[in-house]
Amino acid sequence: MARVCDYLLGGTGHFELDREFAEDLESALPNLAAHVRSQHGFLVRAVRHLAASGIDQFLDLGTGLSTVGDVHGTAQRVDPDARIAYVDADPFTVRLADAQFAGVRGVSVTEADLCEPASVLTAPGVTGLLDFTRPVAVLAIAALPFITDDDELSGVIAAYRDACSVGSALVVSHLSAVSATREQIERVGEVAARLGGLPCWRGADDVRGVLNGYELAEPGLVQTARWRPEPGTDEPGALEVNAVSAVGLLVSRPVPTELGPVR
Ligand SMILES: C[S@@+](CC[C@H](N)C(=O)[O-])C[C@H]1O[C@@H](n2cnc3c(N)ncnc32)[C@H](O)[C@@H]1O
Repeated sequence: MARVCDYLLGGTGHFELDREFAEDLESALPNLAAHVRSQHGFLVRAVRHLAASGIDQFLDLGTGLSTVGDVHGTAQRVDPDARIAYVDADPFTVRLADAQFAGVRGVSVTEADLCEPASVLTAPGVTGLLDFTRPVAVLAIAALPFITDDDELSGVIAAYRDACSVGSALVVSHLSAVSATREQIERVGEVAARLGGLPCWRGADDVRGVLNGYELAEPGLVQTARWRPEPGTDEPGALEVNAVSAVGLLVSRPVPTELGPVR
């Protein structure tokens, strides 16, 4: 999926097979390229916003390829000392990122499954770069649809939240049927099944549940193109892309459940 996204973004890190697969997906969902570009635009706006707010540590879960603009480039343009730990489960993606980012200051790349927070949070590439006693922005852009079990997803996100200090953030962009028809969703599922992983479409309320424990930054959870749009960056069809996005801020620690409800 990383290489398919790279193709749709106009990058250079993909092969003929990825192009064919992307074209099959596009025949199922014609505004797919706008969808991918819109999520990438949100990522850039959200990272820039958080870096400008003083967050200088980023944990990017499901990094993908970044031949068309990356998190560290965006963050370090605001704060040259910003540090970014990239994590992806796909060995090819990790090898490419390793080669691409070798020697880049403040950047590490880790091959790990984001569904195993304990492994991610103790990986040398993460512990060697990020200090979780200070605010960290956890990024989950277009990666959570690959966790199809809702309970697993809640547990995974809660584990990252519990590892973060107050002042941290969670940035989420998730596949959601804004304009897609049932037939299109089924067709995407059939094509994606060839890759062995069916992405999970979640409604806005379910995605809001992922942000449990966080206070949403303005404008909340919205269609991706509506999250702090910047003049001149709108593209045709952006409001029909099938994703919702938000930035959650950890303003206080959730009360542990064994203490009972807060009165
Ligand atoms: C659709 S791409 C999105 C890439 C990037 N975040 C972006 O917005 O362009 C999804 C990425 O998530 C990665 N991924 C999927 N499941 C994962 C998991 N369980 N752990 C870590 N990475 C995962 C894939 O390898 C892929 O690189």
